[in-house]
Amino acid sequence: MAKLALLAVIASLVGAVSCEFPVYAGYGFPRPNPNLPYRFRPPVYYPPASPAPGLRVGYYTHMGRCPQAEKIVREVVEKATAGEKAGLIRLFFHDCFVQGCDGSVLLSGADTERTAFPNLSLRGFEVIDAAKAALEKACPGVVSCADVVAFAGRDASYSLSSGRINYRVPAGRYDGKVSRAADTFQNLPPPFGDLNLTTAMFAAKGLSQDDMVVLSGAHSIGRSGCSSFPDRLPPAANSSTAMETKLAQQLTRTCSAGSSINVLQDALTPDKLDIQYYTNVLSRNVLFNSDASLTTSSETEGLVEFYAGKRPFLRGKFLGPIQWNHDFEDAMVKMGYIGVKTSAEGEIRNTCAFINKP
Ligand code: HEM
Repeated sequence: MAKLALLAVIASLVGAVSCEFPVYAGYGFPRPNPNLPYRFRPPVYYPPASPAPGLRVGYYTHMGRCPQAEKIVREVVEKATAGEKAGLIRLFFHDCFVQGCDGSVLLSGADTERTAFPNLSLRGFEVIDAAKAALEKACPGVVSCADVVAFAGRDASYSLSSGRINYRVPAGRYDGKVSRAADTFQNLPPPFGDLNLTTAMFAAKGLSQDDMVVLSGAHSIGRSGCSSFPDRLPPAANSSTAMETKLAQQLTRTCSAGSSINVLQDALTPDKLDIQYYTNVLSRNVLFNSDASLTTSSETEGLVEFYAGKRPFLRGKFLGPIQWNHDFEDAMVKMGYIGVKTSAEGEIRNTCAFINKP
C-alpha cells in the first residue's frame, strides 16, 4: 500500500510537470517545431478545429427529434461483418479529415472524394445506407448522414473491442454539399509519411500528436491492399523502422500476386480493436511507414510503449493497455468535432450518396 501511495504521489508530480496549458490552435496555427527535442517543446493543447456548433450528446432524444436514432444505427452495425466494421471506423476518419465530419465522403458522382485513390478501398457504405434507410422510415429528414457515420464508427469500435470502447457521441452535424476528389490528397495522411508529416497533418485538423498515436491503434484491425506499402518492401537496410524480416518475406510472397491483393494489418488479432498494434509497432510488424515511424521520437515511442504495457506509467497515467481504450474514446469524440457544419452551411440529406434536389 505504502509503495502504491508513493507511486501515486510521484505520478501526480509527473502529471503536474507535464500538464498541458491551453494554446489556441486550428488551421494555420503555428505548430510545435518537431525538430526540437521534446523537453524544449512547449506543451500544446489543440482544441477542435472549429468551435462545436451546438453538438450535444443525446441530440436526437432531445425534443423528441428521433429518440430511437442511435438504437437503429447500432442494430444495423451489429449485423455487419468484422471487415465492414473496420471499414466504418476508417470511414469516420476519412470523412472528418476532408471537408470536416459532414458526410462528404459518402457522396457519389464524378470527382467526388469517394473516387480518389485513398478512398477506393473504403468499405461500409452499404451499412451506412441501410442505417439511413431505416432512419428515414422512422423519422424522415431528421438524422444527418454525418451523424450516422459518427454513430456507426462508435458502434463498430464497441463491437470490435468487445465493449471495452464505449463512448457517447455528441451529435447534430449537418451534411455538406461539397465533395472533391482533389481534397483527399491534401488532407489524408499518406501511409509512406514520416512522423513529422503525419503529426503536421493531424495538427492541421486540431488533433495532437498523442491523438495521432492513439487513433493509429485502429490499425489493429482490418486490411490493406499491397499497393499501400510498396515503399516498405524489400525492407531498407540499416533502418531502425524497416519492416520485420519475416513479415517482409511473407508479404513479398503474398504481394507478388498483384498490388490489389489484401493483407491483414494485424496478423495476430485481426478482428480485435486492441493494443496489439502497439506491440506490433515496437517489433516492426506493421505495414506502413506512418506506423513504424512512431518509434522515431522518444515522445511517441514512450506512448507506444505505455499502451503496449511495456511502461508501468507515463505522465501521471497508469496501466497503458486499459488507458488506451479511454484515450481512443476521447480522441474519436475529438475527431468528430472537425469542421462540423451548421444548418446554415449544410442540410439533412435524404439519401447519403446524393445531395438533396433543390
Ligand atoms: C496516421 C495516419 C494514417 C494513415 C497514413 C493511414 C493509412 C491507412 C491505409 C493506407 C490503410 C489501408 C488502405 C488499403 O489499402 O486498403 C488503412 C487502413 C485502415 N485504417 Fe488507417 N491510416 C491512418 C490513420 C487511421 C485512423 C486515425 C483511423 C481510425 C481511427 C484508421 C483506421 C483504419 C482502419 C480501421 C483500416 C482498415 C480498413 C479496412 O479493413 O477496410 N486509420 N489506413
